Amino acid sequence: MKNYNKYKRLYDWKRPNERKWTDKEITKAPIWCSVDLRDGNQALAIPMSLKDKIELFNYLVSIGVKEIEIGFPAANEIEYQFARCLIENDMIPKDVTIQVITQAKKEMIEKTFEALKGARKAIVNYYNSISKKQREVVFRKDKEAIKQIAVIGAKTMVECSNKYSNTEWQFEYSAESFTNTEMDYAIDVINTVLKEWKDKTKLKPIINLPATVECSTPNIFADQIEYICENIKNREDVIISIHTHNDRGTANASAELGLLAGAERVECTLFGNGERTGMSDLVTLALNLYVTGVDPQLDFSQIKKAKFVYESSTNMKVPPRQPYAGELVFTAFSGSHQDAISKGLKYIKDNPNDYWEVPYLPINPEDINRQYEPIIRINSQSGKGGVAFILETEFGYEIPKIMQNEIGNYFKVITEKNEKELSNDEIYSKFSKEYKNRCDTIKIKKYKSKNAGNLTIIDLEYTINGEVKNRTKSGNGPIAAFIELLKDEGYECQVINYIQKSLNENNEKSEVVTYVKIKSKDKYIWGIGQDSDATKAGFKSVTSALNRMIKEEQNI
Ligand code: KIV
Ligand code: ZN
Repeated sequence: MKNYNKYKRLYDWKRPNERKWTDKEITKAPIWCSVDLRDGNQALAIPMSLKDKIELFNYLVSIGVKEIEIGFPAANEIEYQFARCLIENDMIPKDVTIQVITQAKKEMIEKTFEALKGARKAIVNYYNSISKKQREVVFRKDKEAIKQIAVIGAKTMVECSNKYSNTEWQFEYSAESFTNTEMDYAIDVINTVLKEWKDKTKLKPIINLPATVECSTPNIFADQIEYICENIKNREDVIISIHTHNDRGTANASAELGLLAGAERVECTLFGNGERTGMSDLVTLALNLYVTGVDPQLDFSQIKKAKFVYESSTNMKVPPRQPYAGELVFTAFSGSHQDAISKGLKYIKDNPNDYWEVPYLPINPEDINRQYEPIIRINSQSGKGGVAFILETEFGYEIPKIMQNEIGNYFKVITEKNEKELSNDEIYSKFSKEYKNRCDTIKIKKYKSKNAGNLTIIDLEYTINGEVKNRTKSGNGPIAAFIELLKDEGYECQVINYIQKSLNENNEKSEVVTYVKIKSKDKYIWGIGQDSDATKAGFKSVTSALNRMIKEEQNI
């Protein structure tokens, strides 16, 4: 790609080295303003229907968004009707303020106020573009003429608000293409607009500083915001808002740094829908606050609902790796990640009062009503810990550490052969079939046992290749007696490891699970026995191991 020399850094402004935002932290939620129904909607190939808009509006209200831009009524009849529908049907809760946008043209501002007639409270956001390129190439006007567009807009806003004085108005000025504008000129335009509004507004005016097209790294954006915050007249009487588009893929980062730099309000959309590459994402920004211990003042505890409403109203898709909401974000394929997650979750379970800190899981999926179930998937990349984790968390089998390698290797062979991921149920069924209560050749039916001095005597009914047998044998314990009996049958073996656990209490049946490793004919082999009777579970574990071995020999 040789044409890089046809480009230059679009924004070459450098702030003298006096920035303060670098040492700051975000300690409270900003004022959130959703622009889904305007910036988001105008970026859709097929704009939302009235029904979709109402569904999305109600959803935004339900999660706690208090400022919602509902459209551009002076430019679009459907958006005019939508504003009327919300107002006339009293669909706007008292604590929610609708916002509309308009160009800084007198007649458009007038039509905009008319569209809002009867509203309890509303924000009118008027804008004009002020960057050098837009001034020179698009509008062919000098700095003063462009500033006058903003001034005429500001005056018209005051006139219109006086005309519709039953509504509580809040004014917003958006300096479109702000980030491509010379900062001294931007501050001049903004201060001139504010001068027009001085003492004429009850509510603090909002100055919105958009990265209309993202043109720099987020640190430059933060410098720009801090510069405006420091040079604006009567800073405490103004709300500084940001609106960051995503052309370089860093809209969220810009928004976060913009907040550090002094902005107190963010215009954004669910999942970053917006013109071209979209804009900053309300869900990510809010949950990023949440996971640092800051109340986002929004309720995303049902994240699937956010995804559902967004997808159904916009016809867009939330990508699988979208932070917090994407299908794959709570999935770990890599074995070492699975192992770390399972240890981290166990630690949290044992230390419920600790802060959440689980490797690879920045948020507890349960907090946004996502499940542990899809956290780990088993494919050929998974390690031994992954299968053991699924078996324990989903099915209650606490596989002993010394057996995890065996099980991990068994599943590795299967997944490599199948070249596909295994579902939890497939894992369970393959695990059970291979290891548990196997009775291919030897099958335990009934037993009785009694003690005679130091010995245990067992009476066992069992089958070998379907032939029913009854025998009595003694040993140092029931398992030792059983091993003697098997020896008489020609199945000599030694118990190497014998671990008995109860099936995890979440399971309804209270059963005992025995994990055994035996040595037979110089081979080591594992088996599992499960039964409500602990001794029988022990017998079954040994026969499972032997049956596995016999089967293996038959297959050779
Ligand atoms: O991106 C933008 O500049 C906007 C406005 C606020 C005009 O959407
Ligand atoms: Zn925008």
